[in-house]
Amino acid sequence: MEVFFSRSEEETIEWARGYAESLACGDVVLLEGEMGAGKTMLAKGLIAGMGIPEEVTSPTYAYVNEYGGRIFHFDCYRIQSIDVAYELGLADYFGRGGICIVEWGEKIKELLPDTVKRIEIRKTKEGREIRY
Ligand SMILES: Nc1ncnc2c1ncn2[C@@H]1O[C@H](COP(=O)(O)OP(=O)(O)O)[C@@H](O)[C@H]1O
Ligand SMILES: [Mg+2]
Repeated sequence: MEVFFSRSEEETIEWARGYAESLACGDVVLLEGEMGAGKTMLAKGLIAGMGIPEEVTSPTYAYVNEYGGRIFHFDCYRIQSIDVAYELGLADYFGRGGICIVEWGEKIKELLPDTVKRIEIRKTKEGREIRY
């Protein structure tokens, strides 16, 4: 695992734009960290880095936002059970060749593929520690 230390949200976005270059079709990226750690900020950088010019907003209420028909950004925080996740059709997004970026993936563990990429982001006194 490598570590990047970010001192501002701009540095997080820039780091994520660079990381996005390593992503390929079919990848599932789990963004892990507590509330307010910077998962959505990281997702913004990833999505921008994949050439999407749209503004990225938190999908907290919609559960999943789609960009360019090929990038899917999930926020599963509010999902109460795996049955609800199935009813919402969330299982259909994985393994279909898109790129999935997932916040609170622990809520939908059963739906995730065996192979995922993980990025952990953690608040520290001076900024954010990003492990990948
Ligand atoms: N170095 C940093 N990287 C990312 N976010 C930061 C950083 N420093 C401060 N922040 C702030 O932390 C908050 C992160 O919010 P958000 O990305 O929505 O978190 P999460 O999705 O993990 O709940 C934002 O208000 C952002 O401006
Ligand atoms: Mg978020």
